[in-house]
Amino acid sequence: MVKVAPSLLAANFMDLKNEVKRIEEGGASWIHYDVMDGHFVPNISFGYSILKDISKCTNMYLDVHLMISDPKKYYPEFVKAGANLIVFHIEAVESIAQAKELLLEIKQQGVDVGISIKPQTPVSTIETLLEIVDVVLVMSVEPGFGGQVFHHEALDKIAELANLREKHCYHYLIEVDGGINEETGKLCIEKKVDVLVAGSYIFQSDDYQTKIEALCI
Ligand code: DX5
Ligand code: ZN
Repeated sequence: MVKVAPSLLAANFMDLKNEVKRIEEGGASWIHYDVMDGHFVPNISFGYSILKDISKCTNMYLDVHLMISDPKKYYPEFVKAGANLIVFHIEAVESIAQAKELLLEIKQQGVDVGISIKPQTPVSTIETLLEIVDVVLVMSVEPGFGGQVFHHEALDKIAELANLREKHCYHYLIEVDGGINEETGKLCIEKKVDVLVAGSYIFQSDDYQTKIEALCI
C-alpha cells in the first residue's frame, strides 16, 4: 500500500508538537521534512535543531528533503538530529561521480539515502545511481514552495522509474512531491508510486486522518 508523508512545511509551527501527533494518529508513517537554504531554492524553511526536537516525540520515519546547495556540508547534522532518510538534489552537485560518492558516504552513517530530480531533469540523468539509492524523489512542482499545482510530466517519470526498477531488480521506493491531492495522488498510484508527499492538502484541512486515508485509496 502507498505511504503518505505529510510535509511539515504546511503545518502550524506554533503548534508543531500537536501537528506531529495529529498526523501520526491520523495514520502517517513518514514525516517529510523540507529543508531550504534560500540559495538552491528561493525560500528558507527550517534547519536541524527543530528536527532534533521532533525526533524525540515521534516514531514516524523522518524523511529529510534537502533543497540546499551544499548537502555534503550539512547532511551530518540532520543524521545526528535523527533523520532516517537523507534526500538531496542531483542539481545541487557538480557531477554524477560526486553524487555517487556522497550517496555512499551518507549510507555509511546508517541512514537511508535518496536522490531527487526537479521537473526539468530527466530520469536518465540519475540512471547510474539507481542501483544504490533507497528512494527516488520525483518533484512534481519546482522546489521551494508548498501549495503549487502538480506538473503532469512527473507521471511519466514515475512510470519510467517503476519500469527500470522491475527490469533491473532495483529496490528503491518512488516518492512524489508537490501538488498532491486525491486526484493527482491517484494518478501517481496508477503509475506505481510508493510514497506520496502532501503538505497543504493535509494541513489545510481540519481532519488529517480523513485526508491521509483518502490518499491511500
Ligand atoms: C516543495 C516541497 C514540498 C511541499 C509540498 O518544494 O518540497 O514538500 O511542501 O507541498 P504541497 O503538498 O502543498 O504541494
Ligand atoms: Zn519536499
